[in-house]
Amino acid sequence: MSKYTIVGNWKMNPMTIDEAKSIAKKTRAVASKLKQTDVIMCPPFVYIPSAVSKKKTAHCSVGAQFVSTHESGAHTGEVSAHMLADAGVTHVIVGHSETRKRGDTNEIVSQRLAQVLAAGLKAIVCVGEDARDDMGGHFEIIREQMKSSLVTVQPSQLNSILIAYEPVWAIGAAQPMSSEQIHETSIFVKKVFADLYGQEAAMKVDVIYGGAVNASNAAEIIRVGKVDGLLPGRESINPPGFAELLRAVDAVQR
Ligand code: PGA
Repeated sequence: MSKYTIVGNWKMNPMTIDEAKSIAKKTRAVASKLKQTDVIMCPPFVYIPSAVSKKKTAHCSVGAQFVSTHESGAHTGEVSAHMLADAGVTHVIVGHSETRKRGDTNEIVSQRLAQVLAAGLKAIVCVGEDARDDMGGHFEIIREQMKSSLVTVQPSQLNSILIAYEPVWAIGAAQPMSSEQIHETSIFVKKVFADLYGQEAAMKVDVIYGGAVNASNAAEIIRVGKVDGLLPGRESINPPGFAELLRAVDAVQR
């Protein structure tokens, strides 16, 4: 049976290694008791060695928030997918709106994604519109982001991909998108996936939601939004809230 996936995006937080170790330890402790939920915590690069546990923890792994488009070489400041894999990372977020804002086009996202998959890692591919309009223009934006970002992905690699739908206007906001709209959009994401890779692949791909997810709304988004998981930012670095969120999601019948 497939599990829920919760991707905790720490962004550029916390401020010290000690805090990072503490968040990772608490997250791992809660995750180890979950039954049908996998947690991927994604700290900044420098905290990855502190977050990766020597002992394998059930239901918990470490992801990265970013990766180079290159394999190795003269690329000052960059970190490659192979380095991440060697450091114990299992997943990498690509195409997050905050990195798209810094210049990542769909083409660059597709190059990062290709590096992730070539290194044998799994990718969390983020898509989402900046704003909604009454004419449904956001659907075209999502379709185009998916089509162009996934362009190099072979059918054999599809089980290494997770789609994170994140409406940009809900990221960092006070409220998430309504669960009904999340449901509608996740169906659309699956439909685009079916157009690209066929119905069977679309049935298998996990679609998760991100944008203002917290302990009090997580279970409802899973239940009514019918998504396969969540991508919380702020709540993932708040151990009590994140623990509550994880337990609440784990209690929703899969
Ligand atoms: P938020 O961030 O949960 O703080 O809104 C989500 C994200 O950036 O993925």
